[in-house]
Amino acid sequence: MPNVGSFEASLERSNEIKADLAIHPEKYTMLTGDRPTGRLHLGHYFGTIRERVRLQNMGVATRVLIADYQVITDRDTTANIQDNVYNMVMDYLACGIDPAKTPIYVHSAIPACNQLLLPFLSLVTEAELQRNPTVKAEMEASGHALTGLLLTYPIHQACDILFCKGNVVPVGKDQLPHIEITRTVARRFNERFGARVFPEPDALISDAIEIPGLDGRKMSKSYGNAISLSMTAEETAKRIRKSQTDGERRITFDKERRPGVSALLTTAALCTGRSEVEIAEEIGDAGAGALKAYVTQSVNDFLAPIRERRHQFENDLAYVKDVLHEGNRVMNEVANATLDEVRAAMGMVY
Ligand code: TRP
Repeated sequence: MPNVGSFEASLERSNEIKADLAIHPEKYTMLTGDRPTGRLHLGHYFGTIRERVRLQNMGVATRVLIADYQVITDRDTTANIQDNVYNMVMDYLACGIDPAKTPIYVHSAIPACNQLLLPFLSLVTEAELQRNPTVKAEMEASGHALTGLLLTYPIHQACDILFCKGNVVPVGKDQLPHIEITRTVARRFNERFGARVFPEPDALISDAIEIPGLDGRKMSKSYGNAISLSMTAEETAKRIRKSQTDGERRITFDKERRPGVSALLTTAALCTGRSEVEIAEEIGDAGAGALKAYVTQSVNDFLAPIRERRHQFENDLAYVKDVLHEGNRVMNEVANATLDEVRAAMGMVY
């Protein structure tokens, strides 16, 4: 038996749930979200968005949160936040998130979700908060002192998951400490207040290969190595053209020695469903120029229908706002009902 709380334990449960999801989708509620700090890119698409759409279409109850309060965990401005939120809704819709099945909503519009933070914070110690490796890494990257919000946001994230009784959370490995503390909070709440209000959620760990950025590092807007869903075909071509390759003419797949060339091959592989080695062999001695032309074509072909749908939403901001307002409305009902249960469990009924 793997240790409780270990990566192996999470992975084992994740695999069990994946098998069960197809048989009993009605047992599951998925909650996941993104910080609205920029446009979604291919890394998001292949890493998580595609999986969300799959779960949605399987009949799982799916909810997608645009985590606007998390924007101020490690930065001191909310500049462009409204624009980022609307654009994130457009990206989701273009990728196939269906608002009739999947409410899309923001933190700041759900007061009852945020209110859960108070009882939840009473269930964890400062030492537990300090131990979270993701928070430590984010603090170091921010170059700022640790703020109260950065230290406690994993508990706020527990509110996100638990207010709608989410029991499956598709996330990357960096988020596993947050799922673990969410399980702890749920368990302690139920024990302390003697009521089974909250489920203990599980992570769904993605087994998709991580799509690298064009330079071989993690794909990230801040590295300038990402292909956003919202870019034009020309912008995409330009970004790929400018990506770093190396002096070797013959194209081969070798992530360690040739990160630039290999990242391009993986990008094309994901977009075409072919393997990197097959593409490398086909291009062979034609060199980096031919590789880049092939990658550009495959990315632009793959994104064409997504971009076409996106244009429709770009031209209909009123609809985009409606989607968000409706998501906020539905999730407020859910949050208020849960907060009522919490108040009842705590005897705070007046
Ligand atoms: N912390 C997540 C990220 O940075 C975003 C997020 C906010 C989230 N609330 C969540 C993810 C709840 C899963 C569940 O990507």
